Amino acid sequence: MSEVRDDQAAGLRRMVRAGPIRVLAVTGGKGGVGKTNVSVNLSVALAELGQRVMLLDADLGLANIDVMLGLHPQFDLSHVLRGERSLEEIIVTGPEGIQVVPAASGVREMVSLTPAEHAGIIHAFSDLGHTLDTLVIDTAAGISDAVVSFSRAAQEVIVVVCDEPASLTDAYALIKLLNREFGIGRFRVLTNMVQTAQEARDLYGKLARVTDRYLDVMLNFLGGIPFDDALKKAVKGQKAVVQAFPRSRAAQAFKNLARKVDSLPMPTGASGHLQFFVERLLQYSSESREVLR
Ligand SMILES: Nc1ncnc2c1ncn2[C@@H]1O[C@H](COP(=O)(O)OP(=O)(O)OP(=O)(O)O)[C@@H](O)[C@H]1O
Ligand SMILES: [Mg+2]
Repeated sequence: MSEVRDDQAAGLRRMVRAGPIRVLAVTGGKGGVGKTNVSVNLSVALAELGQRVMLLDADLGLANIDVMLGLHPQFDLSHVLRGERSLEEIIVTGPEGIQVVPAASGVREMVSLTPAEHAGIIHAFSDLGHTLDTLVIDTAAGISDAVVSFSRAAQEVIVVVCDEPASLTDAYALIKLLNREFGIGRFRVLTNMVQTAQEARDLYGKLARVTDRYLDVMLNFLGGIPFDDALKKAVKGQKAVVQAFPRSRAAQAFKNLARKVDSLPMPTGASGHLQFFVERLLQYSSESREVLR
C-alpha cells in the first residue's frame, strides 16, 4: 500500500516538474574504475527521488549498460547511425522507469565515427520529445574525442577515481586536457571502491593537491562509494545494486550521492528539452577533433 502511495507521489512530482534539465557526464580517464556502475546506480537513485532520468550509453564501442541492467534492446545507436531506426525507437525503459539509450558493443565503426556520423547522433537527440530532469552520460575510458565532446556538453563532469596510482594519474590527465584545451573549470570528484569515509577524503585530497598546484580548476568532493561485494553480486545478477540490495553500503552511498546531486544548483538557461545539449555537442565535437588531431 505504501508502495502505491510512493508511486503516486513520484508520478505527481514528475507531472508538476518541468524545470531545466541537468546533464551529468560520468568519466574518469582510467578503465574499470566504476563509471558505468556509478552512472546506472545514480540514474536509478535519482529516479527513486522522483526525477525523470535518461541514461545515455556513450561508451560507443564497448557499450554495456544494457548488459549491466539485464535489458535486451533490439536496436541501438548503431541502427540510428545507419538510418535504420529513430532515436525514439531504440530507447528502452530500465528500472524505476529510467530511459536508457543503448549503444553498440563490438561494432568497430562506432569507435571511429566520422564527424558527420557524430553529428547524426547529436541531431537525433534534438528530435526527442521527452521532457527530462536529468540526462546521465556514461562515457568510455580514456580521453578520446567522444569523451571530450560529451564532457564538454554536460554541465557537471563527475570524475570517478579509485585508490590506484593509475586512476589518479589518468584522472589528472583528463582534468588537465578538459581544462587547458577546453576551458572546463569545475569537476566533481567521486571516489569509488573505498573502505572508509576517511579513505574517500584522503583520496580526494591526493588529487586536489596536484590539481591545486598545477591547474586553475575547482574540484568539489562528491563523496565515496564503498567497495561492496553486494555491488559485485548485483552486477552478476544484472541489476542495479540500489534495487537488488537497497540496504547495502554501496546502495546507501548511491542514494546519498543522488540526494547530493539533486541539491546541486540547477543550471540556468537550459530548458527541459535536449536542444541545448545537442547544440553544445555539435559545436564541441568538431572543435575537439581539431584540437586532438
Ligand atoms: N564499489 C564497488 N565495489 C565493488 N566492486 C566494484 C565497485 N565499483 C566497481 N566494482 C567492480 O568493478 C567492475 C568495473 O566497474 P564498471 O564497469 O562500472 O567500470 P567502468 O569504469 O565503467 O569500466 P570501463 O572503463 O571498462 O567502462 C564492476 O563490474 C565491479 O565488479
Ligand atoms: Mg564502463
